[in-house]
Amino acid sequence: MQIHKYDTVIVGAGGAGMRAALESGKRCRTAVLTKLYPTRSHTGAAQGGMCAALANVEEDNWEWHTFDTIKGGDYLVDQDAAEVMCKEAIDAVLDLEKMGLPFNRTPEGRIDQRRFGGHTRDHGKAPVRRSCYAADRTGHMILQTLYQQCVKHEIEFYNEFYVLDLLISEGIAAGVVAYELATGEVHVFRAKSVVFATGGFGKVFKVTSNAHTLTGDGMGIIFRRGLPLEDMEFYQFHPTGIWKMGILLTEGARGEGGILRNRDGERFMERYAPTIKDLAPRDMVARAIYTEIRAGRGCGTDGDHVYLDLTHLPPEQLDAKLPDITEFARTYLGIEPYTDPIPIQPTAHYAMGGVPTNINAEVLRNNTDIVPGLYAAGEVACVSVHGANRLGTNSLLDINVFGRRAGIAAAQHAVEVPAHAELPDNPADFVEGLLTRLRDGAGSQNVAAIRRELQETMDVNASVYRTEATLKQAVGDIAGLKARYQHVGVIDRGRRYNTELLEAVELGFLLDLAECLVTSALARNESRGGHSREDYPNRDDVNFLRHTMAYRSGPLAAAAPDAEIRLDYKPVAMTRYQPMERKY
Ligand code: FUM
Repeated sequence: MQIHKYDTVIVGAGGAGMRAALESGKRCRTAVLTKLYPTRSHTGAAQGGMCAALANVEEDNWEWHTFDTIKGGDYLVDQDAAEVMCKEAIDAVLDLEKMGLPFNRTPEGRIDQRRFGGHTRDHGKAPVRRSCYAADRTGHMILQTLYQQCVKHEIEFYNEFYVLDLLISEGIAAGVVAYELATGEVHVFRAKSVVFATGGFGKVFKVTSNAHTLTGDGMGIIFRRGLPLEDMEFYQFHPTGIWKMGILLTEGARGEGGILRNRDGERFMERYAPTIKDLAPRDMVARAIYTEIRAGRGCGTDGDHVYLDLTHLPPEQLDAKLPDITEFARTYLGIEPYTDPIPIQPTAHYAMGGVPTNINAEVLRNNTDIVPGLYAAGEVACVSVHGANRLGTNSLLDINVFGRRAGIAAAQHAVEVPAHAELPDNPADFVEGLLTRLRDGAGSQNVAAIRRELQETMDVNASVYRTEATLKQAVGDIAGLKARYQHVGVIDRGRRYNTELLEAVELGFLLDLAECLVTSALARNESRGGHSREDYPNRDDVNFLRHTMAYRSGPLAAAAPDAEIRLDYKPVAMTRYQPMERKY
């Protein structure tokens, strides 16, 4: 076992991780640990833009942006955090511009802006152009730009190092334990500050826009260590995934004028959101699509999808603004988007919940106290700027604003504290035990089969619409899968590049997080944002205008059948905006 020592260790090299690394790396000795090569991180799949009230093309201001974020999040947003994000958005975009990000431009040479769901002018009067974009490759460009800057600033990267445990010593972050994919060796990284920026866990669902690697490792590690996860019941389904495949077709397509149509060719969103129609927030559009399908107005032989229609847009506009997604339609569906509508269905996309943090990205151990030296930013975290439903393009913003804040705070802490926390005895014991059991044990249960069954039950029982009965079904199914996971085995017993072993480890995180999601959802007897309970169809501010805090107790073990989840609650931070009926 090798031991390394840094001031700050950052786990994850997506947008949030690299933005944090740029700040921390300027101030103290910093390492980034990532299970992928940085430019393969999932930020690269975010397409349509990063919003900021630049007002480059239409009147706008950060307060309208804040209001839209809070209303879009169905009033579960912590309003102080939303104010920080929307105010700092403008500098966050300009910082990227200065770093060299090739944004699309207006004829006058300013950063161009496009429409996105739920972003409005003057508190909902009409859609506003707020999203700054680089064609439909904005996340990709952010990733490339930040990586170039990290290389320029000589940030140290440990690529294909898979972090599997967090070390906490007397309540203070002490480091992490990582598995090196190339050699099979276990490494301990001591640090005064640890930043988690590991992204989401979309692979608990079958139809998802998330890459294969989005298995919630950071959330799972922190949860197993007894720290809470916040608002895990709120999972976002993006309305326009490619039918059956889930691959993302950006909301920017509707921002450019695309229209959703049912089997009768009707622009059905006019009935659900008469003011902003196809540019309503994602939770509403996803529900509307399923309502159309259930009412028999879905398209195709099975009536199980609707159409994204771009055929009325000039081909030059599609080529210039949406080159990737139009190519996806051709490649994956054999559809020519110039002339034919594209079959789509909602796809699991984004976790609003995650590791609770304050506005400086410090991780909370309960409703008020922090874990000194521990930080989280991006999708892994819940600050909570997205509440019950995130607005499109607020995620690329979130990673830049809170990634930056995490890097600054982590470095300040590392510089201020005199010494590293002591390592616990035998710091790598848990990780080595887990790897040995999975790799060398006699287990015969198949990883892919358990994962498939998990994804199937989540798709059927914990998706856009839920009831007590479906959620209880999911709870029972997950309990059975966790029991089987204890007997999982792999065929590849090698040490080098054992990706089968990696998938077995990831499955443990998926099971723990799926259980947390459905347990939290079962206790929320209301409908709010991305959590839509058919048996409780209304929002209930009297009883549920509060964040869920889920705690796990039990052995430090992957998907432990005897671990228990306890739910507690935390008030929503309100500053200026009282909850109102959410109409668009
Ligand atoms: O539709 C999109 O381009 C996705 C953006 C986002 O999730 O923010």
